[in-house]
Amino acid sequence: METEIIKIRPGEGPVSEEDEEKLRAAGAILQQGGLVAFPTETVYGLGGDALNPSSSQKIYAAKGRPSDNPLIVHIYRFEDIYKITKEVPEEARKIADAFWPGPLTMILPKSDAVPYETTGGLDTVAIRMPSHPAAQKLIKYSGGYIAAPSANTSGKPSPTVAKYVEEDMMGRIDAIIDGGEVGIGLESTIIDLTVTPPQILRPGYITQEKLSTVLGTVDTDTTILRADSGQAPKAPGMKYRHYAPRGELTIVEGTPGQVREYINRAAAADHTAGEKTGIIGTEEMLSGYIADVVKSVGSRKDEDSIARHLYTILREFDDEGVTKIYSEGFSTEGFGQAIMNRLLKAAGHKVVKL
Ligand code: TXA
Ligand code: MG
Repeated sequence: METEIIKIRPGEGPVSEEDEEKLRAAGAILQQGGLVAFPTETVYGLGGDALNPSSSQKIYAAKGRPSDNPLIVHIYRFEDIYKITKEVPEEARKIADAFWPGPLTMILPKSDAVPYETTGGLDTVAIRMPSHPAAQKLIKYSGGYIAAPSANTSGKPSPTVAKYVEEDMMGRIDAIIDGGEVGIGLESTIIDLTVTPPQILRPGYITQEKLSTVLGTVDTDTTILRADSGQAPKAPGMKYRHYAPRGELTIVEGTPGQVREYINRAAAADHTAGEKTGIIGTEEMLSGYIADVVKSVGSRKDEDSIARHLYTILREFDDEGVTKIYSEGFSTEGFGQAIMNRLLKAAGHKVVKL
């Protein structure tokens, strides 16, 4: 299959008339059962018509994803939620008012309109209204419901730029909409509204603290920051090895001095043993590191920048053939919980605590 690259103006500004035409054409591809990757404010998505079972099957095939791992249905206006759900509780309206459009996905009981192919056999459906203007137009022109997992090969870090979508999906899907670098860089928060109290299944930019201000008590799935304990996470996708670079990643935690010393010593030993070494460091610590490749993930004071750079850096280490990677650990407060959740998964929970 030949994959068409459709370039639109980068960023999350209003959609130009010229780009609107391109998105209309891409929407038609989706309506005909094709697959189109597109930018959202979190990561690039791999879209298909959510109400067409064969589109969902094609998504699983293109990603190499197990078909028990359900997809998120993306909508562009709230009223479209009624067709795909059995009931919409008050909580759903409240958090939609507060956080939609935006990086929040809610789980609700599904209606018969949503095929089991899209929900991985579950009776619930994950729904998100992205804020990215081009994503919204694409959803509109596709008929209103796009099933979209992150646009990476299953197991790899989610793509934050179109280049990495191309790397994984060239020849496997109909088109890729290149809208430049995404804003947030980590996938949406997922909250399950079918349980009481509501429960966060995947942390993201919309934190537990923010959700609690609207909903009151909010639980978090306890498997989020723990090593695999035999207890399955409630979001089926969270159980798979994920977000992982090809190199072996170790997280090192301790005082800044201890971390610097440990990482430099380990990297030196690896280098001597013939490995290509890489370090993920914060701005504040960067000048003290020695390895084949040292990359700044951003300032410790700026979690948004750490989130935005994390997946890109993991992909760059792959590009550069790095085989041993060391990273500082981060705070698990607020948005930090989402960052550490992804980093721990990328590392297969390999953590050195000094
Ligand atoms: O930011 C995002 O959410 C991105 C962009 C493209 O919107 N999408 C994304 O999709 O991250 P994906 O497929 O990579 O991750 C979806 C996660 C998986 O862990 C899946 O198991 C979970 O959502 N999920 C989907 N439907 C669910 C359901 N009904 N119940 C529980 N978990 C569900
Ligand atoms: Mg994903």
